[in-house]
Amino acid sequence: MKTLTSFVIIIFLQSLLVHIFCLHQTSSNGILEYSSSTFPSDFLFGTASSAYQYEGAFSTDGKSLNNWDVFTHENPGKILDENNGDIAVDQYHRFREDIQLMTFLGVNSYRFSISWSRVLPRGKLGGINYSGIKYYNILINSLISRGIKPFVTLNHMDYPQELENRFQSWLNPEMQNEFGYLADICFKHFGNRVKYWTTLNEPNQQVILAYITGRFPPSRCSSPYGNCSRGNSEIEPFIAAHNMILAHAKAVNIYKTKYQREQKGSIGIVVQTSWFEPISDSIADKDAAERAQSFYSNWILDPVIYGKYPKEMVNILGTALPQFSSNQVKSLNNSKVDFIGINHYTSYFIQDCLTSSCNAGYGAFKAEGFALKLDRKGNVSIGELTDVDWQHIDPEGFHKMLNYLTDRYPNIPMFITENGFGDLQKPETTDKELLHDTKRIQYISGYLEALQVAMRDGANVKGYFVWSLLDNFEWLDGYKLRFGLFHVDYTTLKRTPKESASWYKNFIEEHVNRRELVDN
Ligand code: BGC
Repeated sequence: MKTLTSFVIIIFLQSLLVHIFCLHQTSSNGILEYSSSTFPSDFLFGTASSAYQYEGAFSTDGKSLNNWDVFTHENPGKILDENNGDIAVDQYHRFREDIQLMTFLGVNSYRFSISWSRVLPRGKLGGINYSGIKYYNILINSLISRGIKPFVTLNHMDYPQELENRFQSWLNPEMQNEFGYLADICFKHFGNRVKYWTTLNEPNQQVILAYITGRFPPSRCSSPYGNCSRGNSEIEPFIAAHNMILAHAKAVNIYKTKYQREQKGSIGIVVQTSWFEPISDSIADKDAAERAQSFYSNWILDPVIYGKYPKEMVNILGTALPQFSSNQVKSLNNSKVDFIGINHYTSYFIQDCLTSSCNAGYGAFKAEGFALKLDRKGNVSIGELTDVDWQHIDPEGFHKMLNYLTDRYPNIPMFITENGFGDLQKPETTDKELLHDTKRIQYISGYLEALQVAMRDGANVKGYFVWSLLDNFEWLDGYKLRFGLFHVDYTTLKRTPKESASWYKNFIEEHVNRRELVDN
């Protein structure tokens, strides 16, 4: 009897250990069910958002109009559903309810951005709007009181329209001073409670859309990249990015010299990344894939981390690429980031267009590094294609991307500041279908699995944020492209959990519980 009891106890303990330590177990539908406890106890699990896409209240309490307010009001036809962010998901008024949703998920962090025109309606001129400061103070305090760490982006695509009208915003070095001023005000008012800052969200993606293809405001581009009434796609994006990189450096410098010692927070920058897989084994295609990286995330990260542009850009762009003066290099070197924020959604095949001719397409031209981005090689696609033309489900590409970043920027701490799946709402799509979001679960679980593999390979990742907490205003796709873990009914603004919300909640719970078991 005694032996039988010991046997049962041993079997029980064994299965418990398997449950705790098993590497991962994927069910037949490809959804990750268990994984090892790769995540350290201070790992941040969160959801991400941005001011224009969430807040609404576009002209409330002293906020001025920003570039997106003006762009969507003047060009409704450029937005899929002819809508705008005037109300968005009304987080300005509903943040308390949204924090309850975060509490349901069990996240320990929330990424949001500051609306520049809410805090400084006229930029450096005209003073601080204290209603804006009050809003963020209450938001920050409410998050902290629920055990949720604010992870704050100083700027996510939106800026006071006045800065565009007065001096062409990012095309003018004056924007560096304006951004430094915004940063200083935010560190001063919020920095005693905010321990994670990022300067700019995706300068690379922002300048591509605003100054190469011209699809985002201020709608500047030239042929063959896009159809705009003004702009130069082979010159202006590089000027705008240069100003953004230096504006970033200015903000980091202000933080490091005036605030960090006392406030004890950390600061980084967020870039958009995609994995670029050479379409063949030829040297030309492999070089093209490397060029594609250089003209995308390395464009920003190399200067921020090494104080210079990638050599592929220098070679192709020549004098069109601004140079960093020795003072600017000094400023970059004195403003080392504490971490980098990685937004990642997709992969592409890359075909060389430098040594052989390509069909026109995304990536084929000089300002894009002559590296054509394709979703298929013959009839083989890069991952699983979706209804969203740019989103291809390829977790292995994410794994490769993290290893690539780890090789290029050894040991740099990283946060996955965005990763998520978009459902394109068609006229026939029902709410029931949107709530039953198996594809999103499959996507997120696959990418979380890839993240863990990369971490075991040595990627120094400190946190992961799903894009997004709620369905929200998805730029040119308006409200038709839904990324939320919670569904938003845009007539009533009611939030309803999708199946992915419960999945993410369980995933976090599993990992936190497992960490506790391991820690004990
Ligand atoms: C941006 C978000 C956007 C998301 C999905 C990211 O590039 O930072 O603002 O909603 O992609 O398209």
